[in-house]
Amino acid sequence: YFLGIDVGTTGCKVVLIDEEGQFIARSVEEYPLFTPRPNWAEQNPHDWWQATLQAMEKVVRVGGIDPAQIAGVGLTGQMHGSVFLDTQGEVLRPAILWCDQRTAEECREITEIVGLEKIMQINCNPVLPGFTAPKIYWLKKHEPEVYQKVSKVLLPKDYIRYCLTGGFATDVSDASGTSLFDVPRRKWSSELIEALGFRMDWFPPSFESPEVTGYLKSEIVRRFGFREKVPVVAGGGDNAAGAVGTGIVETGLVSASLGTSGVVFAFSETVKVDEKGRVHTFCHAVPGKWHVMGVMLSAGGSLRWFRDRLGFEEQAVSQLLGKDPYEVLSEEAALAPPGGEGLLFLPYLTGERTPHADPFARGVFFGLTLKHRKNEMVRAVMEGVTFGMRDSFEIIREMGIPVQEVRAIGGGARSVLWRKIQAAVYGVPLYGVEVDEGPAFGAALLASVGTGKFASVEEACKKAVRTTHCEEPDPELSRVYEKLYAIYRDLYPALRDFY
Ligand code: XUL
Repeated sequence: YFLGIDVGTTGCKVVLIDEEGQFIARSVEEYPLFTPRPNWAEQNPHDWWQATLQAMEKVVRVGGIDPAQIAGVGLTGQMHGSVFLDTQGEVLRPAILWCDQRTAEECREITEIVGLEKIMQINCNPVLPGFTAPKIYWLKKHEPEVYQKVSKVLLPKDYIRYCLTGGFATDVSDASGTSLFDVPRRKWSSELIEALGFRMDWFPPSFESPEVTGYLKSEIVRRFGFREKVPVVAGGGDNAAGAVGTGIVETGLVSASLGTSGVVFAFSETVKVDEKGRVHTFCHAVPGKWHVMGVMLSAGGSLRWFRDRLGFEEQAVSQLLGKDPYEVLSEEAALAPPGGEGLLFLPYLTGERTPHADPFARGVFFGLTLKHRKNEMVRAVMEGVTFGMRDSFEIIREMGIPVQEVRAIGGGARSVLWRKIQAAVYGVPLYGVEVDEGPAFGAALLASVGTGKFASVEEACKKAVRTTHCEEPDPELSRVYEKLYAIYRDLYPALRDFY
């Protein structure tokens, strides 16, 4: 058996799989996210650790297996977050997360110091507020007394690795999102690190995702009744590990994930970079391969906002019928015509990354009339988010990356209506996956590869990942959406100056 541990933004999820890569059990433990100031987002790494321990304990119990049969552990987690440790390995301050928007100024400064051309050449991505380097630079400027004590800077899953094994390590996919990693050469860039006055030895050695980086500490082994020397593999950033769990490991395959954020993830055999930096180019969790991805900040998050702020009736109805509130919302949206008779929604509730890289962008309902009901508004939210995802598809196609098959994952893929909208807007057949357990499943598969169960990540995916129902694009619906998408695309540039 293998464990996959995902240190997510809302909680820690642990998945248990068997030798064949079959899903056995899952367990999730939540933890809080702190917003000490508007635009800030922090978490306490100790909370991650406590949740990880609890989720591990529970998954072994629920799976009903002998803990001595666990043969390997894989790690994944939210990317970009910064955990600062002192020389004793103690956490110096709360971790600053991927969705924290405090560092617009630091991004400008770093870009000025290093030069955009050099950054694009080495890291392949512009420096964005979500990424790690600007957070370290922020600490240098705003909390110099803490900065002085920094001895290690870790990504979230790599802090959990440290707790589990006592060792420092990271993997190439997660390290790609620090703005300090040489993405084509798959190693830390001393040039970028030193240009900013940081130190090479702050950053843990990087490995390919299936490689073994260490073994569980004896106190963990004793606590859980594991066998001695359980290997822990490098793992990957949540999107790269998620892609392994979804089988996005060959050319032509793309996943569209609708969670809080929206991610369009495409496999790439070679390093391909969008000159304008609108999509990210990172190392893949498949050794020697890369991926390109567009990240929307409020995808499912937009629908959650609607549910929480305007969906009180739906919540009441869902309670009465014992249904999920999203299902009720989705049924209501299905009663509205496509395109809600001219109603459009721009999903920039927390600014936007792809394609605008604009922390100041804001959400918009455009075209409201007396005729519009809530039904049209919910539908417009689902359609607007899908148009935002389409922006990433456009860029990926422009870069010469083929899109032959899209696999829809995340909470949004559960809605039949949203799947139909996605197929029509992307214009390609849309598949589901049998096991939609997210990045934790991919991390467990990486552990099975790293310990020799499978010869390669590709082989593990062939064996363990199966696609389900296919949604063909409805040509009539596609026609309606082509027209609307053209208007959607023109709205942001027209409004940008007013944000
Ligand atoms: C990727 C990103 C998010 C986080 C979410 O660049 O910022 O997808 O990894 O956990």
